[in-house]
Formats: sequence, C-alpha cells, structure tokens
Amino acid sequence: MTKQVFLPDDIPAVGKKILEEAGLEVVVGSGRDHEKMKAEGAEASAVLIGTQKFDADIMDAMPNLKVIARNGVGYDAVDVDAATQRGIYVVNTPKALSGSVAETAVSELLAISKNLYQDSKAIHDDNWNYRKAHPGRDIEGKTVGILGFGRIGQQVAKKLSGFDVKVIAFDPFAKDVPNVELVDRETIFKTADYVMVHLPALPETQHSIGADEFKLMKNDAFLINMARGSILVESDLVSALKSGEIAGAALDVFEEEPLPVTNPLVALENVLLTPHIASNTVETKARMAVDATNDIVRVLSGKSPESAVNKINK
Ligand code: DGY
Repeated sequence: MTKQVFLPDDIPAVGKKILEEAGLEVVVGSGRDHEKMKAEGAEASAVLIGTQKFDADIMDAMPNLKVIARNGVGYDAVDVDAATQRGIYVVNTPKALSGSVAETAVSELLAISKNLYQDSKAIHDDNWNYRKAHPGRDIEGKTVGILGFGRIGQQVAKKLSGFDVKVIAFDPFAKDVPNVELVDRETIFKTADYVMVHLPALPETQHSIGADEFKLMKNDAFLINMARGSILVESDLVSALKSGEIAGAALDVFEEEPLPVTNPLVALENVLLTPHIASNTVETKARMAVDATNDIVRVLSGKSPESAVNKINK
C-alpha cells in the first residue's frame, strides 16, 4: 500500500516532488488545529510539522507513524520521549536555516537600533517630525553579547564581522572562534549593548531571563530574541521596557503564538515585534523542505535519517 506523508501546512513544491518521486502519497491538510490534524493525518506514515504541539495524543491517532519531521530546528513542542517509546523518529533541519535566522537577527538588531519601524509608521501617520525626539543609535563601537553560541549564534557573529562591533559570547559548550571573546553569562548582561538570545528551549533555559537579568543590563541596552518565547519571563520584560531599565527589544518569538493583540508588548513603542519569521524566507523554506523530505524518504525506505534528534532501535 502507498505510504502517506501528511503536511498540515503546505510546503514548497521542491519538497513535495522529492516525496512523490519516492512513490509516497502527499496529503496536504488544513492547518495546525489539533483535532483536524488527528483526523486528516490518521493514515500517515510521516508528518512534516512547524512549531505546533505534537504530543502522545496525536501520535496515537496516527498508528502508522514512523517519522515526525520538524520543518526547522527547534523541537520543544514535540514530545520526543513519547515518539521514542512508540518507535517514531523525530528529525529536524538544523543545517538549512542558521544563516537565515542570523540574517533576521542582525536585521532586527539594526531595525530596533535605528527605530526603523517607528519612523516608517510615523510617515504613515503623517508625522515626519517623529524623528526629532527619537534619534536612532549606531552600533559601531558597541558590544554585542550572544547567549548560546551554537550554529546560529556563530553565524550571527560572522554576519556582524563587518560592523566594527565587539562580539562576546556565552556558551558552556563553545569552542574558541576568532574575533569573539567567550565570557561568563553575567558579563553578557552587564556589558553588552545588545543581548542576542540564541539558546535552545530546554527545561534549563525556560524562563531563564527575567527581572534579575534585566536589572544587570545597561539602561540603554537592547534585547533581541529569535530563539523561543519561553526562555524569557515575558511579564518581567514588559516591566523592564516600561520602566526604562532597558532601552528596547526586538522579538520574533513569544510565550503564546500567535501573539494576542491584547498582549502588553503590543502597546509598547520601544519594541519591534515580528511573527516568528526568522527562517521564513523563500530560499530557507525550500532548503528546509528538501532536508526534511529527504529524511522522511530515508526513514520510510528503511534507512537511518541524517538528522534525527532521538535514537530508535530498528
Ligand atoms: C525553528 O526552526 O525552530 C524556527 O523557530 C522556525 O520554526
């Protein structure tokens, strides 16, 4: 019988072609609603997901499932233990997106520094002179602190190399990289003009940046988070932004996504908010689709995947 691959969200054609050429049936669903995914993917041998929750309940609704492919790197929303217990591989696409996420991180750093969003909005609001009371800041000569110096953090340092900034980084597992000073965690918060969060979402990093860290930061420093909303204590960040404890924040990820318009962050002027788009580019979406579908094909043809995050005894 032809094996089914369930795509709750559609993916670039290049990925679907890989599946079809491998003789698999592609089923495109109607989005991320939990119950709909259970019904639409009931026959699936593989599923390719975004950042939606994928728990034991949904795995049990898909009894043929052999592989859960994450269209991206973070797998915090997947119950990996439940998958392993059921003999289901969890795979991701870490190589496809580091450069793209780093580009977005540096773009947001520059945008929040230069007030680009508020200045542009001011023109739409017929308020050319908004700029007078809201000068931007140069990044030249400043210190950028990178928290989490894995693939993405290192790409950020590389992209920043032409900006005449000092780059410091904290990561207990990091090796020396030219032109980057490895420092302790506290030094990042105390000395960086820009604190960039590129940590994985793990129990140890959950809510690990809150009131204490914002107190350590300089009043004219900015926070940029492209990792996961759960790493910050969002209510503490709102307080720090309101009180002027820090100058501003650029955030691509939130505790609750989609970010409700009633979230207090939305009412603040000193924030740049984007809807989890760090890897949402034409090129990266295509690369992620290729990497994820190739691993799906490998698993469904009895081979080992290239990028598994769990170990399955075959
Ligand atoms: C990731 O890869 O985890 C990004 O957050 C986009 O999904």
